[in-house]
Amino acid sequence: MTRQIIILLGSLSVLLAGQAACAADLESGRRIYQQSCAMCHGPGGQPDPASPVVQGLEVPPADLSDRLFNSREPAGDWELVVAHGGHAMGLSAQMPAQKDALDPQQVRDVVAYVKSLADTSEYPPGELNYFLPIRTKKAFPEDEIVWKARYTPIDDGRDVLRNVIEVEKRVGKRGMVVLEAIHEDNGIDSEITKVEVGYKRVLSWNVEKGSILSAAIIAAFPTDGGESDELIPYLAYARSFGEAWILQSSARAITPLDSAGDGSLELAGALHYRWTPWPRRVFAGLELIAEAPYEDFGSAVQWSVLPQLRFGLTKGGHVALNLGVEIGLSDQAWDTRAHAVLLWDFADGSFFKGWR
Ligand code: HEC
Repeated sequence: MTRQIIILLGSLSVLLAGQAACAADLESGRRIYQQSCAMCHGPGGQPDPASPVVQGLEVPPADLSDRLFNSREPAGDWELVVAHGGHAMGLSAQMPAQKDALDPQQVRDVVAYVKSLADTSEYPPGELNYFLPIRTKKAFPEDEIVWKARYTPIDDGRDVLRNVIEVEKRVGKRGMVVLEAIHEDNGIDSEITKVEVGYKRVLSWNVEKGSILSAAIIAAFPTDGGESDELIPYLAYARSFGEAWILQSSARAITPLDSAGDGSLELAGALHYRWTPWPRRVFAGLELIAEAPYEDFGSAVQWSVLPQLRFGLTKGGHVALNLGVEIGLSDQAWDTRAHAVLLWDFADGSFFKGWR
């Protein structure tokens, strides 16, 4: 028994020592940076426009010491850029690949050093920017344009095609404003039915747990004067389990201002499996949604499941398509409906960048 314990402790200490060796060494990172990166990126992360080397670059590198920029780009993405070069992630090929010059530990060291060039302690880290689910609300603030299409076949009725355009813009260190226009077409009427404006703010996060919590408030204005305006406050929480599993959840209270009692509560959860750090891949996800009217809590809950696939379309994944089929599990007005979501993260560059 004691022997087994000693072996166990031995392997544990090897494991822990291995972990310690993996932690980034900022001093090594600094040396690598000054030697191999500073001529283009500048000694402090800010490219020097007067430098002939920088003038010779077709795309001037972004300012790595800028807090918002530095915080929003996940270290894992930068490790891919540094190891495999800009071209591999849809950026300029003049950003050289370092995988022959640096080993994986050195790549981690230099990226950790680059991350330390800006004080990002008040900004939510890009590592917590998880995949956008179809119905579950996301916690991370974005600079994004999203087009959501939903097709609902209705038995003995008219099928409905609903299109939503969402423009999201980051404000301040941890806020985001959103503007949405909702268009519906049921074969007879085809019109903009609602306009929404809102604000989201990150409340807290924890890098070790990979968790992030946000609160938002949305005001919805139907274009039909007969319908009530709505207030839709929501909370969104996400966390990762290990490297690959991501759980996101949200709770929305959809409240008509004229008759608050007619509102409903929507709970949604999404699980994604991120099997690789490369963004241009296909990732599977599954959502579970429950919606219950305030007045008939419990008995009238409408459940649905929404299996989906995310396709990273550009090399850096800043344009992505989500396709899903939502299956009603309760007595809904519909049995199944189809979703398509196209997103463009415009902070990462033009829509047309990084396709080839
Ligand atoms: C020959 C000049 C050059 C050298 C040397 C160089 N880079 Fe770059 N780097 C660039 C250019 C140009 C870009 C911008 C590409 C773009 O935006 O299309 C870039 C982009 C990057 C990015 C991606 C930023 C983003 O947009 O997400 C990171 C991170 C980076 N470089 C880190 C490094 C590190 C670390 C080193 C040293 C190991 C290094 N670079 C060496 C020119 C260089």
